[in-house]
Amino acid sequence: MNKAIDPALMQAAEAAGSSFKMDAHWMPFTANRQFKKAPRLLAKAEGMHYWDVKGRKVLDGVAGLWCVNAGHNRPRIVKAIQAQAAEMDFAPPFQMGHPLAFELAERVAAIAPAGLNRVFFTNSGSESVETALKMAIAYHRVRGEGARTRLIGRERGYHGVNFGGISVGGIVANRKHFGTLLAGVDHLRHTHDPARNAFSRGQPALGAELADDLERLVALHDASTIAAVIVEPVAGSTGVLVPPQGYLQRLREICDRHGILLIFDEVITGFGRTGSPFAAQTFGVTPDLITCAKGLTSGTVPMGAVLAKQAIHDTFMNGPEHLIEFFHGYTYSAHPLACAAGIATLETYADEGLLSRARELEGTFADAVHSLKGEPNVIDIRNVGLVGGIELAPIAGQPTKRAFDIFLDCWDKGLLVRTTGDIVALSPPLIVEKNHIDQIVETLRGAIRRAA
Ligand SMILES: Cc1ncc(COP(=O)(O)O)c(C=O)c1O
Repeated sequence: MNKAIDPALMQAAEAAGSSFKMDAHWMPFTANRQFKKAPRLLAKAEGMHYWDVKGRKVLDGVAGLWCVNAGHNRPRIVKAIQAQAAEMDFAPPFQMGHPLAFELAERVAAIAPAGLNRVFFTNSGSESVETALKMAIAYHRVRGEGARTRLIGRERGYHGVNFGGISVGGIVANRKHFGTLLAGVDHLRHTHDPARNAFSRGQPALGAELADDLERLVALHDASTIAAVIVEPVAGSTGVLVPPQGYLQRLREICDRHGILLIFDEVITGFGRTGSPFAAQTFGVTPDLITCAKGLTSGTVPMGAVLAKQAIHDTFMNGPEHLIEFFHGYTYSAHPLACAAGIATLETYADEGLLSRARELEGTFADAVHSLKGEPNVIDIRNVGLVGGIELAPIAGQPTKRAFDIFLDCWDKGLLVRTTGDIVALSPPLIVEKNHIDQIVETLRGAIRRAA
């Protein structure tokens, strides 16, 4: 693939040398000063690759940001978005609707775990989390248990960046600057246990009993005050923590015992990442609510959703019919462009078998990723589906620096990876082929060695 690069983009690249021209954009989750000194500017994408503004080809090892599951710039999705933009730009979602919203909801419900057949649209993972937390609390109130307001998250959890999400989340850097957060939140202990489970392939054997931590919180707060527990089935942003065998089942049982709703945050795991449409299906545990986003439109147009069990939805459907049942929603919920993108994305997944492809490639991917065992400073490797995490020993006194250096080195060698703390995360588009996996792992191996 040899695309001509727009001269204007080349100029932008040159301008990138000047910090003056880059001042206005305060970049999210970015080391702004470092970036603006040595910018990494993307210009084009297709399939498994990006091209930077200088025309350099970069292999995408992280599906953009865990979202471009169908691969980049797939013609069917591009055309659907273009056509919809020309047909109807926007439709108000409050007290109005448009057909694509209903079609997409039905298609999502059709691949969701059994029973989660009601779909509430948002614009991001963070909004999906806020929506699910509010839905859980309101659900208990509507059914007469208004004291159930407490929310339980988990240490090291990532649930986006809004106040509900950082309150139930458990990543300290995302919480410590932002005051007292939501009241009435508690946390389960995390499941990272390298002393017992280092270098596990797939689900670690040990740690199901860590779910019993929920019983401790029930004993402390009383179940009658707890609305919901939210966990990522596979914690992604904290560095790929795969649930120990039996852990999610045990969490489900304890929630059932105490009437607590179980929310799976599937913003990363949704849409094929673990080899099934949702990780709930991969692990055989059905939550009451699922939050998703990212892969819903393969990252093309911002969109998220909450999938709810029908019984939860139906609980709200009471009272006079002219009254709004759930006082929540966003101006851009079910945006026509996002719906068009979502439908074309789901069609692409179905036609190409992408929602189960991670299962087919899991062994190949695991072999490749685990071949990094024994490289300098590699202290753990974790994988499930098409997700891998390589944990490195931090440089003494400089946490995160080793992984960041590896990220920069990979970029330099034409590979995009993601780092969090001293962990390198991999999550390639689901169209990845074995040669790409080899390129990802060998490039990373070189960077790990050079960072020693
Ligand atoms: C599990 C999980 N929840 C929520 C979010 C937040 O999604 P967004 O960045 O679209 O708000 C993310 C983002 O990576 C995530 O991984």
